[in-house]
Amino acid sequence: MNRDPLYILLISVHGLIRGHDLELGRDADTGGQTTYVVELARALARHSDVEQVDLLTRLIDDPAVAEDYALAEESLGERVRILRVPFGPSRRYVRKELLWPHLDQMVDRCLQLLRQQDRLPGLIHSHYADAGYVGQQLSLLLGVPQVHTSHSLGRAKRDRLLASGRKEQDIERQFSLSRRIRVEEGVLRHASLVIASTHEEVEEQYGLYHAHQPKRSMVIPPGSDTSRFSPPGRRKIKAETLGMVDRFLSEPNKPLILSIARPVEGKNLKGLMDAYGTDRALQDMANLAIVAGNRDDIRDLDAAQQRILHDLLMDVDRYDVWGKVALPKRHSVEDVPELYRLAARRRGVFVNPALIELFGLTLIEAAASGLPVVSTENGGPRDIMANCRNGLLVDPQDPLALSAALKVALCDREQWRRWSKNGVAGVRREYSWDAHVAKYVRGVRRVLYRNRKRLRRQLASDLRGDHSSLAFVQRLLISDIDNTLVGDREGLQELLAWLRERTGVVGFGVATGRSLESARRQLRNWRVPMPEVLITSVGTEINYGRKLIPDTGWANHIRDLWRRDALVELLAEVPGLRPQEAENQREFKLSYYVAIEDMPPLKTMYRLLHERRLRGRLVLSRQETLDVLPIRASKGHAVRYLAYKWGLPLCNFLVAGDSGNDIEMLKGDTLAVVVGNHSPELESLRDLENVYFAEARYASGILEGLEHYGFERVASEP
Ligand code: GLC
Ligand code: MG
Repeated sequence: MNRDPLYILLISVHGLIRGHDLELGRDADTGGQTTYVVELARALARHSDVEQVDLLTRLIDDPAVAEDYALAEESLGERVRILRVPFGPSRRYVRKELLWPHLDQMVDRCLQLLRQQDRLPGLIHSHYADAGYVGQQLSLLLGVPQVHTSHSLGRAKRDRLLASGRKEQDIERQFSLSRRIRVEEGVLRHASLVIASTHEEVEEQYGLYHAHQPKRSMVIPPGSDTSRFSPPGRRKIKAETLGMVDRFLSEPNKPLILSIARPVEGKNLKGLMDAYGTDRALQDMANLAIVAGNRDDIRDLDAAQQRILHDLLMDVDRYDVWGKVALPKRHSVEDVPELYRLAARRRGVFVNPALIELFGLTLIEAAASGLPVVSTENGGPRDIMANCRNGLLVDPQDPLALSAALKVALCDREQWRRWSKNGVAGVRREYSWDAHVAKYVRGVRRVLYRNRKRLRRQLASDLRGDHSSLAFVQRLLISDIDNTLVGDREGLQELLAWLRERTGVVGFGVATGRSLESARRQLRNWRVPMPEVLITSVGTEINYGRKLIPDTGWANHIRDLWRRDALVELLAEVPGLRPQEAENQREFKLSYYVAIEDMPPLKTMYRLLHERRLRGRLVLSRQETLDVLPIRASKGHAVRYLAYKWGLPLCNFLVAGDSGNDIEMLKGDTLAVVVGNHSPELESLRDLENVYFAEARYASGILEGLEHYGFERVASEP
């Protein structure tokens, strides 16, 4: 298997990410995911197979947040850093939904960054749907496999919101879930590996997706920083923690049943109280401590929390368990590990009665403290119990089952000791970040191995067409097809040989008015190997390599102000236009045959568009055809977009053409060659700098141009 050191690129787009003092809970975008990605990055870098980890996120320069987020680079330790790229609304901190329209820009910025450092990651690991989109595009463009972690999924969120009674349209307006779900489907289809935290997540959440592929998903629980949690050993429990609990209890030395949870409905603390309150035998065996947040005056809490605490207090009285139940008012972060240790010291048990628990961090903390567990069977705890074997699962809505399980956990000393030991070992084995990363690297190696086999097969059949080389080539030749690249077999063979010798240094692309299908047919007829890039349908479509990976960034860019249906309707009324064949009608290109004497002049047609508030670019070729394109699209614009996207200066492009629809890409900073057999409309370019008129015809003309500019000499330098 492949043991090359790994360079891993993590992408997490939204929120506020830095190496210290994460602002958790500042807003909806600064939740668990931020901790997850920072801790994952650091843990990955500790693995011996990993040589570099970069965590890519958005650069934010905004007085409303700390200056840390405006740093382009921040070290997280040896071989691991945060890289920040600016994109989106003027570098301001905005909620994640508002970043979506700018994700293509992030793709472009990332490509430039990777080109600058002259090296590609072996793996792109995206987090959440927004990064999933960016990661998928980079993966396609660079030929690097993608790993994805969703953190949460749009379909599950929509179901939840609908179930809570919100209206479909409101949900859509606030969260744009349909776009998110579309992207998620795409990412799940494409990614080589999807990492989930629990099996429940795979079944209940990923299972909602058409593109979900169980074979390509892997459950690896997140690591937890359990360094603060350990069994009590001989250590003394802090007096404050002791006092906090024991002042409620008349026989404090009895075993302690401990529960720690926020006072919210779903945590089912009432269910626990009912189980304890109705079971005298259990009360004789053990005390109960419920640590439910902090309060000064219950009357100051929000209504839902008031109701829960009110019920707990009323039930202490109803079941008359005074002196047996502790309900501490306040506790600090430092008390938490001490509370687990206290319960472990007293041979007690931790209980999580939640209706459903997504992951179950408290169970991990209890296990690390050597405290056996009785837990809800719904959600993540299932996995934890299967891994640690340190307690029992129960139906949280069955009080009898709950109290029975607690008694079983408390009465058998031998079993208690085994569960206590199992928990400590299980957490170390399964829930540390190092354990997470060990599994991760194994899973990823499998992916890379598969990918490599595929790549080798591809390379064997044809060296060219590995589109990822666009990230590294120093020069790019872009040629029109008809009457420029093709037309003369001998010259063409010479040109192709020239390119073959420079594979990986000089990239090769075509730009044509033909549709993608027709361009491929024509190239095949002339035995031209698949270029790295195909600009087709007069610059409205860009595809890469043998697999014809579409550049969706380009499609999204030119979509602006394009109203195809309205244009079709309007042009149907214009005399002298006859629609071309169906194949030539594209999403972003409408094409007509022209009877030039019947067609109104272009000026009149532009006025017509204007009157109907429509925008479009009209391209007349050889007085025979008319193309209508989005205003942002043309062969020339497509070439410029490539330069920008792949970080190659325009003067490193050599473009070649023969007729009218090439004019736009021949002008400007590119090095241009007009072949000897050009049509008269190109004469207008004679006096321009950087436009060379070759004597030779067809492909031989291109070769003459390459020589004229010394493209050959420069390009063959190492
Ligand atoms: C190609 C296309 C056609 C287009 C013409 C001019 O022949 O097939 O649809 O109108 O180029 O760009
Ligand atoms: Mg041509």
